Amino acid sequence: MCGIVGAVAQREVSGILLEGLRRLEYRGYDSAGMAIIAPNGKIENRKRVGKVEKLSEELTSSPLLGRVGIAHTRWATHGQPSEENAHPHISGDIALVHNGIIENHEELRQRLKELGYQFNSQTDTETIVHLLHYYYQEQQDLMAALKKTIGDLQGAYGLAVIHAAEPEKIICARKGSPLVIGIGIGENFIASDQLALRQVTDRFVYLEEGDIAEISPDNYTILNAEFNAVTRDITQIDSAAESVDKGHYRHYMLKEIYEQPSVIRRSLAGRLGSKNILIEAMGSRAGQILKDISSVQIVACGTSYHAGMVAKYWIEGLAGVPCRVEVASEFRYRKFKVQDNTLFVTISQSGETADTLAALRLAKTLGYSASLTVCNVAQSSLVRESDLYLMTEAGPEIGVASTKAFTTQLVALLFLTVALGRHHDMTENEEKDIVKALNALPDLLSETLELNLNIKKMSNAFAEKHHALFLGRGAQWPVAMEGALKLKEISYIHAESYPAGELKHGPLALVDADMPVIAVAPNDELLEKLKSNLEEVQARGGQLFVFCDKAAGFKTAKGMDIIELPHVDDVIAPIIYTIPLQLLSYHVAILKGTDVDQPRNLAKSVTVE
Ligand code: AGP
Repeated sequence: MCGIVGAVAQREVSGILLEGLRRLEYRGYDSAGMAIIAPNGKIENRKRVGKVEKLSEELTSSPLLGRVGIAHTRWATHGQPSEENAHPHISGDIALVHNGIIENHEELRQRLKELGYQFNSQTDTETIVHLLHYYYQEQQDLMAALKKTIGDLQGAYGLAVIHAAEPEKIICARKGSPLVIGIGIGENFIASDQLALRQVTDRFVYLEEGDIAEISPDNYTILNAEFNAVTRDITQIDSAAESVDKGHYRHYMLKEIYEQPSVIRRSLAGRLGSKNILIEAMGSRAGQILKDISSVQIVACGTSYHAGMVAKYWIEGLAGVPCRVEVASEFRYRKFKVQDNTLFVTISQSGETADTLAALRLAKTLGYSASLTVCNVAQSSLVRESDLYLMTEAGPEIGVASTKAFTTQLVALLFLTVALGRHHDMTENEEKDIVKALNALPDLLSETLELNLNIKKMSNAFAEKHHALFLGRGAQWPVAMEGALKLKEISYIHAESYPAGELKHGPLALVDADMPVIAVAPNDELLEKLKSNLEEVQARGGQLFVFCDKAAGFKTAKGMDIIELPHVDDVIAPIIYTIPLQLLSYHVAILKGTDVDQPRNLAKSVTVE
């Protein structure tokens, strides 16, 4: 959460910083600010509560001129969204932006107050800038002061600092929160995500855990956690591969929903043979590592956790390999037994989710055989720190509500299922059937998207509702969980999901005419059981909205709206049935008038605990 951008150049930087903030807004959008070393040699700053556009308006009426600057878009952790709490924070001639959480901030605050520092905000971040100021008095060198400062910090940080007395540089540090240097010609940059800098460069250096760095217009130097100078690889990013505008769509979310056939086609390319899956596409070590695996532990958060839940049905049901799934924030704080030959799998769109990353780091100390991440960002921490990775190839996902990341995760997890199944219960014929189903997937997704207008019509029934219940059985239960998460996060309607068989054990008490019940009903072996569950809802006057297979035998009737989907193979049904639930949430959110791409209180990338 929170986005940082900085620039040292031989031209004005406020426009570059502002565009960088716009591209980082997915990381937080409750306030934004910028600080620059002005032509008079002093630090000047502007801050506004609200989105980056508010800061932009402020800069139009009151511009910031200068060639060295830092900027920040915030997602509040300590202290409410306000101008005082917005970054950059200032102490004397020093300005600082920070992403992360300083856990010992109260103790530091007390110490600094005793040293005579006055605090203007409720943030943990302000302690860092005062500490820097304190150590600068002693060291008279910004880098030396930073080394001393980070020695006092407990917690996570990606931070960038400027000092009016050292006007040609930005100093930065990374521990627990991502930072990347963008390399230009006669200018260099720093940001939380390379996306922020794509308008100025395509060459990037990713800082590693514990790194600190100094960037100036013509140079950059990196020191590792032991303060030894190190060289890190330069990554060139292919600009053509990633587009980050909305095109003709009203929202990123809608664009990303409609991109699913093409990104899934891309994620299948080079991974499917005519009858089998090309395991080599998972990396040269994959075959060797996976053949000895006898169980799987999946850890993830939010939507990525739901992908893991679907994968559990596949890995146990199709590959015959025991599989456990847990949310990362629980996994990292409990005690458990690690079975021999267990593969530790993380799933993450961003590859930077703090809890998932912490779970991976913990797992590495616990005796798992190997780690694999299913991830959408090639340069992310999860990819760099895992033994194996399966890239989802979804392209940048900007809408806070995850859509194409989820379905591409499912495709990648189906690959993993087959890769494991080959050494366990899966026959060649079963693998061939999965390949056939995957090949059909992009066209079936396009066909399903054609239901958009029917779904839009259906969404009217939800506009005045305050609650909704999502039901599924088997691998469709996590699809129902994902549907409920989508509805609540973008329409703010309270939604819950249940495996349909659980209904009579409590939630049935909630069912009445004001509680819409949404069911996902492919024509699978649990269909008849699901029908009985839905009859229980009808018998209590509940209004049903059923997404079903053409051959499932549902009919629109009083109390039951149905939308028929194309007939699909069971194995890919969770991917197909996700689409109508994404569209339903989208249309309900439009009716509610919420901020679809940036719903309240949320951020795209959760890099704090
Ligand atoms: C879902 O729409 C959310 N964006 C959220 O639940 C998200 O999936 C979660 O924060 C995990 O993010 P990650 O995939 O980047 O790790």
